Amino acid sequence: MATAADATPPSYHWAKAVKEFDESKMGVKGLSDSGITSIPEFFVHPPHALSDLKLISKTAGSLPVIDLAGLESADHRRVIIDQVKEAARTWGFFQVVNHGVPSPSSMKRFVPAFHDQPRDVKAKYYKREEGRGVMYASNNDLYRAEAASWHDSLQAWMGPEPLPPEELPEVCRREVAAWDGHARGVAEKVMELLSEGLGLERGRFKELTFSESRTFVGHCYPYCPEPDRTMGITPHTDPGIVTVLLQNGIKGLQVKHGGEWVEVSPVDGGLIINVGDFLQIVSNGEYKSVQHRVVANSEKEPRISIVMFFNLSKWRGSGHYGPLPELLSPERPAVYRDFTAQEFLDNFYSKGLDSKSFVEKIEIQN
Ligand code: OGA
Ligand code: NI
Repeated sequence: MATAADATPPSYHWAKAVKEFDESKMGVKGLSDSGITSIPEFFVHPPHALSDLKLISKTAGSLPVIDLAGLESADHRRVIIDQVKEAARTWGFFQVVNHGVPSPSSMKRFVPAFHDQPRDVKAKYYKREEGRGVMYASNNDLYRAEAASWHDSLQAWMGPEPLPPEELPEVCRREVAAWDGHARGVAEKVMELLSEGLGLERGRFKELTFSESRTFVGHCYPYCPEPDRTMGITPHTDPGIVTVLLQNGIKGLQVKHGGEWVEVSPVDGGLIINVGDFLQIVSNGEYKSVQHRVVANSEKEPRISIVMFFNLSKWRGSGHYGPLPELLSPERPAVYRDFTAQEFLDNFYSKGLDSKSFVEKIEIQN
């Protein structure tokens, strides 16, 4: 594999620099706060990855904004179902307003409250063990990716087994638990709409335990002195069912639509929802898991995003996953083959975030 390291002088010890950065536990925030004016070489992405950084579509329109008010009135619900279905099929991304989460803007403070703490306070949580508990780290895929990206993240695995609250950092303990409840509430509403959009029972996704396995992430994208040479997060699709995301007022998130990158402008009080790979597979390709990325932050204030991923869960007992059988017919045969949870996880952890999509891998070639 050609890595960005190939372009750097042989005297530069790429792997050593990565390891030193990791062991310092300072995160990107620490680098940024130290006042550096150029970024370490292992953050520099290769030319092919940066070539379309500035290519932002002016014509592809903007993410659909869906108003969830009136969800319980039967006639209006039909209208909302159609909007959600259309957005999930064409964009794979949408924003929702009137979602019932009280004042999401006031919630944005707890993630910076964690990242703004001194290095030694945060260092207690700095580790690289994904899957349970709480983990603070810079770049989950630091040792797998072609180059590092300009963000740090606080993560917590909230379910299906409840996370003991005392494992969460005190500075945001109550708020993370509250966000978990709110994000789950919104996700369940949206999952009902998505389920009905496929012609299934309203409660089908919940019955399939799609809202149980949850990962909280509080990303921090600090000021980057060379935003044209690195990324905030490289292009990827989310692996799970749906993602619920709240961002602060600093732009950076972009979504691929019609082959072009489209900026996601923060909508006041809005929450962003996107379809993950697993939902694309379960829906037999009806809903789309779409590539997105975050450009490195050129503003002095950090960009913050608060994310809840709803992940693969145990829905068939047998340990096999694939398109929902009730969506298949001779006219609409399976587009994807079945797979095991282990296959899904092996693919996810084999490479960087930007690795080949799992969805492509299990597509049935006709
Ligand atoms: C992610 C992601 C976008 C953002 O964490 O998967 O796409 O705005 N985040 O932080
Ligand atoms: Ni994502």
